[in-house]
Amino acid sequence: QGDPRLKAISEAIRVVPHFPKPGIMFQDITTLLLDHTAFKDTVDIFVDRYRDMGISVVAGVEARGFMFGPSIALAIGAKFVPLRKPRKLPGEVISESYVLEYGKDCLEMHVGAVQPGERALVIDDLVATGGTLSAAIRLLERAGAHVVECACVVGLREVKGQHGLNGKPLYILVEPR
Ligand code: PRP
Repeated sequence: QGDPRLKAISEAIRVVPHFPKPGIMFQDITTLLLDHTAFKDTVDIFVDRYRDMGISVVAGVEARGFMFGPSIALAIGAKFVPLRKPRKLPGEVISESYVLEYGKDCLEMHVGAVQPGERALVIDDLVATGGTLSAAIRLLERAGAHVVECACVVGLREVKGQHGLNGKPLYILVEPR
């Protein structure tokens, strides 16, 4: 892409080798959050893309989807729905488990947070295998929502072909370094 903002966004993400385990090149978006221009540009790019797509729900994946999702939701006039790790939400939930690069986990969503027919956007900081986003898509679809797209700040090349995302489009700003 020719957007000059993307280079600065990529460079604002710190790469930490061998975290949290040997061999993993951790993409640390906390340094992006420290850079006001890069952080704002990141949110603005998503807002410009999604503001006229009839999206009423932005669903953010714990934990780092919570750092981008609410700003996008407020700017496009949508509600924000947190998709949380197990046993964090106090109300009635639906759950979907998924396999991670290192382990297995589960996402939960409050029953009633999303109404059938709503148009949803899923936000996370990073996609690796796509397992987490797939669980998020399943939760929203079980609630009757239409998942318009999944969006991440950083994406690994292997999932750019939309494998495993139930055919849903995936929008990524930058590749991992
Ligand atoms: C990371 C990242 C994504 C997920 C991507 O979260 O923030 O949510 O992994 O991996 P995948 O595409 O292979 O499913 P993590 O599981 O480390 O949880 P955390 O944000 O709560 O630390």
